[in-house]
Amino acid sequence: MSVPCVAVERERGETVRERLAAADVLDGDHEIAVDGETIYIPVVDPESVPADLDAAIVDREAAERDRPLTPAEILGYEPSLERLGDIVIIDEDDDERAREIADAVMASDVPCETVLNRASPIEGELRVRRWDVLAGTDTETVHREYGHEFLLDVAEVYFSPRLATERHRVIEQVAPSETVIDMFAGVGPYAVPMATRGADVIACDLNERAVAYLRENAARNGIDDRVTAIAGDVRDLVGGTGEDAVDYADTADRLVMNLPHSADAFLDTAVALAGEECVLHYYDIQHEDDPFGPGTQAIRAAAGDEYEVVVETERVVKSYAPHEYNVCLDVRLTRI
Ligand SMILES: C[S@@+](CC[C@H](N)C(=O)[O-])C[C@H]1O[C@@H](n2cnc3c(N)ncnc32)[C@H](O)[C@@H]1O
Repeated sequence: MSVPCVAVERERGETVRERLAAADVLDGDHEIAVDGETIYIPVVDPESVPADLDAAIVDREAAERDRPLTPAEILGYEPSLERLGDIVIIDEDDDERAREIADAVMASDVPCETVLNRASPIEGELRVRRWDVLAGTDTETVHREYGHEFLLDVAEVYFSPRLATERHRVIEQVAPSETVIDMFAGVGPYAVPMATRGADVIACDLNERAVAYLRENAARNGIDDRVTAIAGDVRDLVGGTGEDAVDYADTADRLVMNLPHSADAFLDTAVALAGEECVLHYYDIQHEDDPFGPGTQAIRAAAGDEYEVVVETERVVKSYAPHEYNVCLDVRLTRI
């Protein structure tokens, strides 16, 4: 099929392509072609081509494009992107570059409704981040992970798609009929798949919005009968008094403690929740010189002479900061 193309010398190809992209006239449905020293760049609207390139417009056969147009092809460099449902997340300090990447994402074939740039670190007790919304408006999305669906709003709750492999590793250890307590459950990326494996899961979070999503996600994935979602401080799961009080002391076969900066402050609660034999998945952030020592010592101190402590797995989950790791200890507690 014959389409209008801007014909330029090969060495000017990328510069001209960028200008045509900026003018929003690139024809993404047809392939760019090279013939000898000339590159032919298909355009959608010859009238809108910048005036100094006018003379270069020719009609030419161009193959229909059958592969998706990527942001990298538009930008001429590979941006660092993270996908969360139909949201694309970028991490860019330079505002101008952030906007350029957001425009390229929206112009590409990446299925995307919203582009967000990180505007703060993860902060506060609820571990939520602030965002700059660069394209679209909606910060709520449905994320899919290992066959499960999670509805969540990244502006209201914690969620990291990067931890999918680590979560899967832990989830695969769960046997049917276990009682699991997910102490810092968020929107349920551990709790929901664990319930799918047949566990009874008590899932707690301080963030009421996260717990609302957790309930919705349990229902979406068809296991709401096996998830008890509790909004509040996990310390209140032990020894509560009064009308609405709950007491899950001595019940857990498995505990998930995914609050890496301050999990040690909750180890007394964890030990109180543990049953006769209990596997604890303890997340921590530590210096590379001794990534597992402080966590192991804190767990042994909390267990005291009540439990035998066996560290079954020491795992570096990811690099957190220069010389710091996010790690996980899988620890078996057996009542003495
Ligand atoms: C790092 S996020 C992990 C969420 C979830 N496990 C995940 O992987 O997406 C930690 C969560 O702990 C919750 N949290 C913080 N302090 C808490 C407390 N005292 N009791 C219960 N939840 C708490 C925060 O609201 C946050 O959702």
